[in-house]
Amino acid sequence: MRSKLAGLVPYNPGKSLEELEKLTGQKIVRLSSNESLWGPSPLALDALKHNLDKINLYPDGAAQELKKALADLWGLDPACFCLGNGADEVIFMLAVSLLDPGEEAVIPIPTFSQFAVAVISSGGNCRFLPQPDLAFDLKDIAAGLTDKTRMVFICNPNNPTGTSFTHQELREFLQQVPRDIVVVLDEAYCHFAADPSFPRSAELLQEHRNLVVLRTFSKVYGLATLRIGYGAADPAIIRQMEKIRLPFNTGILQQTAALAALADESFIRQVVKETVRERSWLQEEFQALGYQTLPSQANFILFKPQTDAAQLAENLLQKGFLLRHTGSFGLPDWIRVTIGPHPLMTKLAETLKQLSAS
Ligand SMILES: Cc1ncc(COP(=O)(O)O)c(C=O)c1O
Repeated sequence: MRSKLAGLVPYNPGKSLEELEKLTGQKIVRLSSNESLWGPSPLALDALKHNLDKINLYPDGAAQELKKALADLWGLDPACFCLGNGADEVIFMLAVSLLDPGEEAVIPIPTFSQFAVAVISSGGNCRFLPQPDLAFDLKDIAAGLTDKTRMVFICNPNNPTGTSFTHQELREFLQQVPRDIVVVLDEAYCHFAADPSFPRSAELLQEHRNLVVLRTFSKVYGLATLRIGYGAADPAIIRQMEKIRLPFNTGILQQTAALAALADESFIRQVVKETVRERSWLQEEFQALGYQTLPSQANFILFKPQTDAAQLAENLLQKGFLLRHTGSFGLPDWIRVTIGPHPLMTKLAETLKQLSAS
């Protein structure tokens, strides 16, 4: 047995919606997983229907057509892309293909838990850098890199905080990081960023061969169950990742749906527009309720109620809303909520008002 894994526990997805509905006697809306509540891209759904009769076939494991579409979108060569069974798998491939046992990866926290799981699984060591103000301070992170560091994970907008850093901050960070340290920039939620100073990572990829940008089709494109995401990087890094990629890690349905979703520009624009609008609206409602909130550029908001957060999450569940209490991120006083369409957000805000009055 790998002794390194002793500190890990299997991922706990919590109770299923069906179990929760039985327990509470309520229809439950899940606002705890940052899924798209606007549903999948209609073009992706059409593509799926047209390809269902191909599921007896192995896919093109190299996903050449999808890589070509991504290359056009990013203005890069198809050799700059590696597809994964969700961005989750891309994170794994990065750690396993690039870290030797005992090498160090820096992980500012709180952040997405799979970075640490991937590093530990690869035999590497995690060096966690707590970020006291909850927003990432790239100068502090640069100062926290050591001679042993070979990889650093920065998530922008970050999960679970929703906060983001700017293009200029990222540029300065990349200029400071030694070239033999791989910078993994997880942009799972970047589509929802409305801040004009949000990083233009495609530009930075051209300048920095040690930068890897992660994207997913699970969020804005609404394809979470299909499991498809990708990394964009210098071909030398991608070649190394491709060495350990399972031959058919993305299937025909995943690839064709992703291709169609990429082309569904008006759908994406609409989902982003509504998410940004509802995010501002809900922030104001939270502030009116006296909650502390962080400025979010993602499709979720982290908030700190004035009362016990775990209890409030439980009370909300009894009213039919499953939110994410962030105790497991080391933030026991906070709750993360996924943004959804206005009627749902209105009902949530009304429920919070009732609960705070009772
Ligand atoms: C920051 C971040 N990166 C990556 C992922 C994984 O995305 P995927 O569904 O593509 O595996 C998530 C999922 O929630 C996430 O929050």
